[in-house]
Amino acid sequence: MAMTIWFLLFTLLFIFSLAADADTQIKVTNNPADKLVTELNNNRTEHKASALYDNPGLACIALQYIKAYQGDCSAVGGPNGKKPADSKFAETFAPNCGIQASTLSQITGRLLGCQTKYVHASEVFSEILIRNSKSLDILYNKNHTQVGAATSGTDGGSPYFWCVLFSSGKPNSTFVFEGGVAKLTRPGCFSGANDECSGAHDWSQSHLLWSFAATALIALWYVLGL
Ligand SMILES: *[C@@H]1O[C@H](CO)[C@@H](O)[C@H](O)[C@H]1NC(C)=O
Ligand SMILES: *[C@@H]1O[C@H](CO)[C@@H](O)[C@H](O)[C@H]1NC(C)=O
Ligand SMILES: *[C@@H]1O[C@H](CO)[C@@H](O)[C@H](O)[C@H]1NC(C)=O
Repeated sequence: MAMTIWFLLFTLLFIFSLAADADTQIKVTNNPADKLVTELNNNRTEHKASALYDNPGLACIALQYIKAYQGDCSAVGGPNGKKPADSKFAETFAPNCGIQASTLSQITGRLLGCQTKYVHASEVFSEILIRNSKSLDILYNKNHTQVGAATSGTDGGSPYFWCVLFSSGKPNSTFVFEGGVAKLTRPGCFSGANDECSGAHDWSQSHLLWSFAATALIALWYVLGL
């Protein structure tokens, strides 16, 4: 009997520690755009290029850049590739983000990807955004000083867009939000604003919950089996 109670207590403790673990994992992975910037900066520093400042204003613009495609994946890259007119930055992207137009700075590179399947930030980096020597040149360009990344699904689902914008501007005085506070524009996630975001997908969290529930169930079954 004492053994059974000990076992029960031990199992409960185990379940709670798992739940706590799942909770921290959710926090760490909660903004896929931030994860992508971390991935990108790690890769740059391993190639002796500087780590770039993650500018939330530039990242918000990257999300607007995605929205300009209105969910049309076929307009990204390839022979029918299109890109938003440069004038859009001042006319619509900056005002939508609440960014002072006078603080816009030169865009020194862009990486854009779109696909129907949702993949995690590390795979986005190596499988979608960096596919050829041209995108590697963009990644390692010495003129960049800052970066902003964004991701968004379309109408809450597939296809998923990823955008990285680079700039040569001074981090603290370019892409500045009016009032100094990032204006979060949902749906979609962008980097640098310290916000938690899982706008592109919700199933990674439910997946964690499911694995937790399954563990609890197995443990319970185990206890009852005694
Ligand atoms: C950096 O990214 C490129 C392109 O995905 C890849 O080939 C290379 O192995 C990466 N380097 C490191 C150190 O991760
Ligand atoms: C860096 O910027 C300078 C000045 O705008 C330009 O001439 C040069 O080609 C750029 N370098 C790269 C690698 O893009
Ligand atoms: C930029 O702003 C941050 C936060 O306001 C500050 O900590 C940092 O020192 C500033 N950097 C420069 C180069 O002014």
